[in-house]
Order: sequence, then C-alpha cells, then structure tokens
Amino acid sequence: MAGITNAAYRRLCLEQATAQGGSSLFVCEMITSRGLVEGDATTKSMLTFDELETVRSVQLYGTDPAYVGKATEILCADYGVGHVDLNFGCPVPKVTRKGGGAALPWKRNLLGEILTAAVSAAARYDVPVTMKTRLGIDPEHLTYLDAGRIAEESGAAAIALHGRTAIQGYSGTADWEPIAALVDHVGIPVLGNGDIWEAGDALRMVAETGVAGVVVGRGCLGRPWLFRDLAAAFEGDEVLVLPNLGEVATMMYRHAELLGVHMGEERGCKEFRKHISWYLRGFGAGGELRHALALVSSLAELEKLLAELDPDEPFPQAILGAPRGRQGSARKRVVLPDGWLDDMDGSGLEMFEDADEISGG
Ligand SMILES: Cc1cc2nc3c(=O)[nH]c(=O)nc-3n(C[C@H](O)[C@H](O)[C@H](O)COP(=O)(O)O)c2cc1C
Repeated sequence: MAGITNAAYRRLCLEQATAQGGSSLFVCEMITSRGLVEGDATTKSMLTFDELETVRSVQLYGTDPAYVGKATEILCADYGVGHVDLNFGCPVPKVTRKGGGAALPWKRNLLGEILTAAVSAAARYDVPVTMKTRLGIDPEHLTYLDAGRIAEESGAAAIALHGRTAIQGYSGTADWEPIAALVDHVGIPVLGNGDIWEAGDALRMVAETGVAGVVVGRGCLGRPWLFRDLAAAFEGDEVLVLPNLGEVATMMYRHAELLGVHMGEERGCKEFRKHISWYLRGFGAGGELRHALALVSSLAELEKLLAELDPDEPFPQAILGAPRGRQGSARKRVVLPDGWLDDMDGSGLEMFEDADEISGG
C-alpha cells in the first residue's frame, strides 16, 4: 500500500506473522516502471528492504510492455527481488486517465503483452510474476475473467482480485462472488482481496470462494498484529489477539523505532504521525494527548507521551470488524483516455508511461 508498506512497516508485520509461525508476503509500495528504468531517485529510494525480508516483493506499475519488462529485469538483477506483482487495480483519475491501473485490462492484448514482458524477464531469474486487479471499470465493463485467462496464458503465477470495480473506489462492500467465479475460471491460484478486517474474514473468504490466499489492505492500518491473528487462524486457532492499550503503545513505539532505523529518527517520527489515529482508534486516549502525539518529532518524546496512556485499558471490541482507512463514496465516472472503451484490443498501442510515483490501488 502506497505510503504505508515501507520497509519498516513490512518488518513490523513480518515480526508479528513470524511470531506465530505464519508465512506471509509483504509487498513493497508500488513503484513505476519508467521511474525505475530512468533511475529516478524517489523510485530507487523506495526500493529499500529490511534484513528480515527473505523474499523481496515489489509491485510495479506500468502501461508499456518495454518499460515493464526492463523494470522487471532491473528488480531481479540489481535488487534481488524474488516476487514481482503488477498493478492493474489503481482507480485514481490521474492513472486511469492515461489508461493505467484498473483501466488497462480493458485492452486485453495490451494486458497480455505487459504480462508476457514481465514474465519472460523474471523467468531468467526464476522469479514469479503475479497481477492484482479489480472486477473491472464499472458493472458494464467487467474485465476480471478475461484478465484471469490472460494472466494464466501469459505465465503469471497467480492473480489477486479486489472485489470492487474502479468506479466504486474504496466505497461500500467488496463483492466476493466474482472472486469465486474467477477461482472456477482459471487454473492458477487466485488470491482474494477486499474487506478482510479480521482473521475470521479471511477464513470466511477462503470458505466462500475457494481462494488460495487472501490479500490484506486497509485492515492492517494501525494493526500489525492482524498478521499474527491470520497466521493463527490459518493454523486452526481462531483466538484473536486483543492487545490492551499498553501493548498497542509498545507496538507503536516499535513501529516508530523501525521507521527511524530505515529513514532516520526525525523523518521516521514524522512518517509515524499518520499512523497514530489508526492505532488509537476506539481507545479512550484524550484529545490533547492525541494532538501532542500527532506532532511527535523524536523517539524520546514519543516514549514520554505513550507513557501517559492507560496501559490497562482493554482493546475496544466495538471496532472489531469495522472498516478503517479511506472509504469515500463511489465515483460518478471513471476518467479514461478518449475512445478507450471503443475496442478491447490495444496491442501495439502507444501508451504514455508515467514516471512519477503514484498512489493507490
Ligand atoms: C492508502 C492505500 C494505498 C494503497 N496502495 C495500493 C497500492 O500501491 N497497490 C495496490 O495494489 N493496492 C493498493 N491499495 C489497495 C489495497 O491494496 C486493497 O486492494 C484495497 O484497499 C481493498 O482491500 P481492503 O478492503 O482489504 O482494504 C491501497 C489502499 C489504500 C487504502
């Protein structure tokens, strides 16, 4: 997740999952293929990994097979990446306007060309390529079944499906029925995504759809221990970890500390600020203290402020299963390039390849 899953947060989540003996894959924030090929400094700085990450997993954005192929090659050859995921799910207008993200699978042949370019570059390093997508552009322009078939034909190792269309953004509830339909439609593993808020949701998704695994998005915001719960649940132990406020505070400090390791203390503390309300959601911490925490600029200050929280306050059960993070409302329309929906082919289409880092999926 853009702006969230940097090396520090991936490490924190990994610590939680491995404490329970679980095996999860934590994907680096999305980077653009052109940014990487042209050696853009921001892109390169995002390719930072923690020493605990035994499999380096990166999500690439791209619309041009040549750039995506070259970027995949660079990831495998120069960054020791062991898994490449391709983003075809981003719904933001800046991206779909250029035919990228969730708009791209409409052009079936172009999708195949991009996947093939990535798969053949990665195959030289024995690295699996997966793709992540949405149901389609809107209910009248669904793409997921064709995308699954094309992913399989192109040699992708798996496909992750978010049960919303681009026009839905992050609003409403994800539809899991199409995820089950995709499982029936393809021979490669399908990973289901959308509204996994608790470990029980993951078990329910597996039971209802037959997916080989789940992809967690907003459910992990301020809750790295969700991965401990997930690991336990998949082992058949459904007991939830419900940390009290003292344990949450310890986790918060650890998060900020790891951010400091990876980006320096001051930047790390600034970066940590946006996570505070997610961690404290539902707890009784007072407004003044929350405000002071949201301005924290050193680990010593953070420690002092966290000590003011009541360590014995129990976890607020009322927020279990509740959505968190961005939701918003459905869009009026998905912004697309002129005439984008007129044909479904797109092979050899001259696409503008974005170099800027973009956010969302
Ligand atoms: C802040 C934020 C950043 C995201 N960034 C990405 C991204 O870079 N790549 C991606 O595939 N999905 C991204 N997503 C989408 C999530 O991975 C996920 O598909 C979506 O939120 C639905 O799952 P959920 O209901 O479990 O949150 C992002 C979501 C949020 C809220």
